[in-house]
This record gives sequence, structure tokens and C-alpha cells, in this order.
Amino acid sequence: MENTIHVFVEEEDGSKTPIEVPTDMGLNLMDVLKGSGYPIEATCGGLALCATCHVEILHDPGLRDPQDAELDMLDTVPNLTANSRLSCQIRPENTLDGLVVRILGDR
Ligand code: FES
Repeated sequence: MENTIHVFVEEEDGSKTPIEVPTDMGLNLMDVLKGSGYPIEATCGGLALCATCHVEILHDPGLRDPQDAELDMLDTVPNLTANSRLSCQIRPENTLDGLVVRILGDR
């Protein structure tokens, strides 16, 4: 479908689970991951204030640069990686088809 991309979640065993992500429903990536059953608390509701939606980007087809609020929050995360992002700040768009993430959370 035109308004759907595929994002892959790398599981602990190294396998990759494909997830269909709509690009036209106003959802962010955290919403979709949570809706797919991943245990993301998202206590701040997607406002870049809790970091429970922290992911590591394993393959980046073309993410936009993070805004200051996202960078500030990531600064507080103990398990920060060089490719850390907050999934609630990622807006699915066609250029992100094939994105691969690992879900890290805030510890
Ligand atoms: S859901 Fe709280 S920072 Fe993303």
C-alpha cells in the first residue's frame, strides 16, 4: 500500500520483526510500536519527556535530524548509544521504509 511503510524491530535473538506502519494516520513510531505489543510505557504520552520510548537505530534510510527537546531528553538516558532516538519523535514517512530499530527503553 502506498500509505504504508515497513519498519523492522530487531529482537533479542537477532531476528527482525516487520511491522506495517501507516504514514497517513498522524501516528508516531512509538504509537505504532506500542500498538504492536512492544512494552513501551510512554508515560509522557509522546512529548519527549520520559525516554521510555528510546530506540537504537540500526538502519537509517533517511531520518530527519532530532530537535532540541529530543536531544535534551536523550542526554539523560543511561543506556545512550551513538544512534539513539526517541521513537515518539519519529514521524513515519515514505523515506523511512526499511528503518530498523532495537527497543532500549530508559535503562
Ligand atoms: S514517549 Fe515519552 S519520550 Fe517518547
